[in-house]
Amino acid sequence: MLSKSSAKLFFLVGTGLCVGTFLLLTIDTIRRVPEQTNQQNLSESAIRGKHLWETNNCMGCHTILGEGAYYAPELTKVYERRGPKFIAAMLKDPYAMYPGQRKMVRYDFSDSDIQDLTAFMKWIGEMDLNGFPPKPNIGQIATIEGVGAGTGVAQTIDRPIAFNQMCIVCHKLRGQGGDVGPALDGVGSRLDRDYIVRWLHDPQAVKPGTLMPKLPLSEEEIVELSAFLSQLKEDAK
Ligand code: HEC
Ligand code: HEC
Repeated sequence: MLSKSSAKLFFLVGTGLCVGTFLLLTIDTIRRVPEQTNQQNLSESAIRGKHLWETNNCMGCHTILGEGAYYAPELTKVYERRGPKFIAAMLKDPYAMYPGQRKMVRYDFSDSDIQDLTAFMKWIGEMDLNGFPPKPNIGQIATIEGVGAGTGVAQTIDRPIAFNQMCIVCHKLRGQGGDVGPALDGVGSRLDRDYIVRWLHDPQAVKPGTLMPKLPLSEEEIVELSAFLSQLKEDAK
């Protein structure tokens, strides 16, 4: 048993040590903030984007850095996940990008507002958040699966980044992705490359009224995507 005075000492020293440690850790965390947030990259545009983020109540539906509402996807890493083109298309016309699903507000953003919001997303996405938010590494899965695992079928072209950022929102490939459009396994047996090229340029022109939107793809991306898709043959599943 401790005597009364040594219990008191024990309490005071223990409390002192804990408070001291807490203060040191707090100071250390605050000291790291500029570096972990890449403060030097905080452009005028990203600051305007943050303002738009706050004044348009995006947090009424989304979380960012874990804060906000849980109706819509977490957006901390959306820049990496979807890329700038998808984000821009989404902010211009959310219904086209997620047809028939839960609703996101269609704002009347100008192109420069959209640029600012995208710059803000990019800045947020590049912060060092000690691993938050945890996520499945789609890129990695894609590369492993992209080689036609053990089927002996020559599937030589890896999934283009544009595919992982934009197409899997609506299409499944090897069981992963959305189901707004048909799964794209074996699509190379159904459609030839020229058709896919025309389709990607403008789905509405090929099939008026289709739910697939015209995506902001560059010529290079269309070449890459059509080469990738036309090699996905039925027996390669
Ligand atoms: C009324 C709720 C609501 C508000 C407000 C809202 N969103 Fe959304 N947002 C959604 C929903 C829902 C989705 C997912 C679409 C779906 O599943 O149908 C989404 C998707 C997105 C995506 C694509 C995410 C992904 O992973 O594909 C981005 C980017 C986005 N929102 C940005 C914003 C920004 C920026 C604002 C504010 C200017 C905002 N949203 C305000 C509901 C909302
Ligand atoms: C917003 C949802 C959406 C996105 C994003 C999307 N698609 Fe589609 N896609 C569809 C829908 C819906 C169809 C079915 C169209 C129809 O038959 O009217 C379709 C059809 C297709 C087809 C024809 C498939 C077949 O078997 O006939 C191809 C090929 C295709 N998409 C490729 C892509 C590629 C490549 C991307 C990414 C650059 C992409 N899609 C992004 C919704 C989407």
